[in-house]
Amino acid sequence: MSPDSPQVPPNPHGDQRIRTDVAHNARVWNHWLGGKDNYPVDRAVGDRVTALYPSIGEVARADRAFLGRAVTFLTAEAGIRQFLDIGTGLPTANNTHEVAQGIAPDSRIVYVDNDPIVLTHARALLTSSPEGRTEYLDADAHDPRSIVGSLRPTLDPDLPIAVVMLGILNFVLDTEVARRVVRTLMDAVPPGSYLVLTHPTLELGGEGNTEAMAFWNENATPPIRARTGAEITSFFDGLEILAPGVVSCSRWRPKPAADGTLPPVVAQYGAVGRKP
Ligand SMILES: C[S@@+](CC[C@H](N)C(=O)[O-])C[C@H]1O[C@@H](n2cnc3c(N)ncnc32)[C@H](O)[C@@H]1O
Repeated sequence: MSPDSPQVPPNPHGDQRIRTDVAHNARVWNHWLGGKDNYPVDRAVGDRVTALYPSIGEVARADRAFLGRAVTFLTAEAGIRQFLDIGTGLPTANNTHEVAQGIAPDSRIVYVDNDPIVLTHARALLTSSPEGRTEYLDADAHDPRSIVGSLRPTLDPDLPIAVVMLGILNFVLDTEVARRVVRTLMDAVPPGSYLVLTHPTLELGGEGNTEAMAFWNENATPPIRARTGAEITSFFDGLEILAPGVVSCSRWRPKPAADGTLPPVVAQYGAVGRKP
């Protein structure tokens, strides 16, 4: 956005941070997932990205399915009852609290996003079970200290927390800064906590991915980058990465199909690590 960008037109939400003339990631992601919470500019940019990189919709769906499997594992098998979901996105099917509270109704979730449109839809994320609790923070992932300073009273930082960062570190462009963000968050949670991550990559195929990212960075916000498996693995320094490791998120403990076939690989790594 240049300083002499046109005045933001009035919008139905009354929040002047909402640009209806520039595509926003949360809204385009919503479009790829088949949602309706987006503007014509988001659909135009999203469809152009799909034309360049036809599997992007599959990436978005695989990422959400990974979220469901990871949160199910953490709640049902690892005994986690607290989640910090950073870069939440617009509410859709199977949000973190719905999956966790469907298994353990006393689960507590803090959602974090910095997109004003996600804030306007946050009510749909705050539909907690009576036994649990959900909270929404309008905060920037570049400022993890303010996030960890706002966990109470919804989360108890003395008890294990799953830090969920799906498709968000790709907006923290400097890799050393991104490592510091993860380190600050994981230093603030006790042993037995988890890090759940997905991140785009150019290593797993995805025809047109490079061109689509370049197009995105010229036409939409915020700017994005891909990383290698080695860079993504480095976010888990000091943590124990669970099997099957850092893999295409579609291949992280996939539900077996009736005929035994595995879901196709997508150009998005996914992994879960435990703080020892
Ligand atoms: C690709 S979407 C992923 C949504 C969800 N985590 C999922 O996996 O379906 C990325 C989200 O990160 C948010 N985001 C981008 N940069 C951010 C930042 N610096 N701080 C907080 N949220 C950010 C966007 O607004 C968007 O909602």
